This record gives sequence, C-alpha cells and structure tokens, in this order.
Amino acid sequence: MDTAWGIVDIHSHLLPGVDDGAQTPEEALDLARAAVADGVEHLVLTPHVFPGRFDNTRSTIEAGFSRFVNLLRVYNIPLKLAFAGEVRLDASTLDLLAAGELPFLGTVEGYRTMLLELPDAQIPLGTDKLILHLVRQSIRPIIVHPERNKAVMEKPERMGLFVDMGCFLQLTGGSLLGQFGPRALSASRYLLEQEWVTAVASDAHNLGARTFRLSEARAYLCAEYGEAAARRLLRDGPKALCGMAAQCSVAA
Ligand SMILES: [Fe+2]
Repeated sequence: MDTAWGIVDIHSHLLPGVDDGAQTPEEALDLARAAVADGVEHLVLTPHVFPGRFDNTRSTIEAGFSRFVNLLRVYNIPLKLAFAGEVRLDASTLDLLAAGELPFLGTVEGYRTMLLELPDAQIPLGTDKLILHLVRQSIRPIIVHPERNKAVMEKPERMGLFVDMGCFLQLTGGSLLGQFGPRALSASRYLLEQEWVTAVASDAHNLGARTFRLSEARAYLCAEYGEAAARRLLRDGPKALCGMAAQCSVAA
C-alpha cells in the first residue's frame, strides 16, 4: 500500500491567540511539528469567524498568518501553509461578505470556497436560504463536520439538500476513529457511502484530545474504503478545494 503521499489538511486552529485553538506561538509551533509528524504536507489555518465570540475577519487572519509563516521559516518546519477561516453560519455572514471580509479558501470552477460551520445542536431554520444566497454570489460553502451536528446524526440524509445546492462536505478525522461517539461515526459512514464527502480534515486545536490523528484516519479509510478513497479524501479532494489559490503561501 502506498501511503507516502502527503496529506492536505484544510481545517485547523493553529494561529495563536485568536480562538479556542493554540494560545501561544510555542503551542502553535508544537502543533505544526505534530502536523508534520502525522504526515501533513499542506496545512490550512482556519480560525473561527464567529462575530461576538471570535471576532476574526479576513484582514486580521491574514496579518496573523504572515507572522506565523515567518515563525515557521525561522524554526525550519517543513509545512506548506495557507489560511482561510471557519465561518459560523449567521446573519452577520452577509455583512462580512459585503465588507469583503470573508476568508475564502480557494476557487473551484469559478466559485469561491469557504468553510462554513453550523451550530452543534441543529440546522437552523433558514439555513437553506442563506446558503442559496451564498451560491448565487458564486460561493460554494464547505460544510465542516456535519457528522457532529445532532440533527445530522439523527438523519444524515438531511445533508442531501445542501449537497444538491452545491455545498461540499468535510468530515473530521477523529469522527472516523470514534472520538466523537458512535453516532458521529455512523453519520460519517453514511455520508461517505453516499459519496457526498470531499475532504477529511483534522480540526486540530491542541496536542491533547483535539490533535491531528490524520494518519490514523488514513489507515481507517484505506482499510474500509481502499487506498484510492483515502487519497481522494485526504489529498486530492482537499487540494481541489484550495484551488491552488494565490494566497496559498509556501513556508518551506
Ligand atoms: Fe474548527
């Protein structure tokens, strides 16, 4: 089995001091080293964009990202880096869009891609209308960790509407390893079997319970779905979502 290929991880919280991920540059550096050790070649830093809780915007993330790229160069950590943001679905999403402050990941077929987070407990009323509005503005959301949403755990088929609208889905590697419980695992399997999932990512926050675990996820995917599926979900799919965007700076 060829598992020498590098992983492209499109969801992580390394940028220090801006959300509930790494709090200090030292923690962020340790996480970056852990990413390399886990087989990650290309890592996207995606701080929470959650007005009122984590007031990050494209501009603030970009400024922190530049400093972090320099830090990785100084410490000679061989990781390709990019930034985007994990945008909480909210009425203010449209204000950020109007202000040019949504942190997009890349471009696919003329659509900008953006990580979009639903609340944990439900799919709020009006979610479909908001997503439709985004699609009409040439944005295709990547719905992050749908398998950890209670309404999706109950009925994973609920995601079909959003896939049909043009959304991409991203699962968390830990969900495939049972880290978020049996219901998140079975929802993950359902979504994979429908072929609705484009990427598996870490959503890494720290070196404790929320670390990378992507090499374990790769082993799981290889065993359950074959190596081609693992490569599609951990490298080719996420790479396509990045669209080789100009913002994908290479740190090393
Ligand atoms: Fe996240």
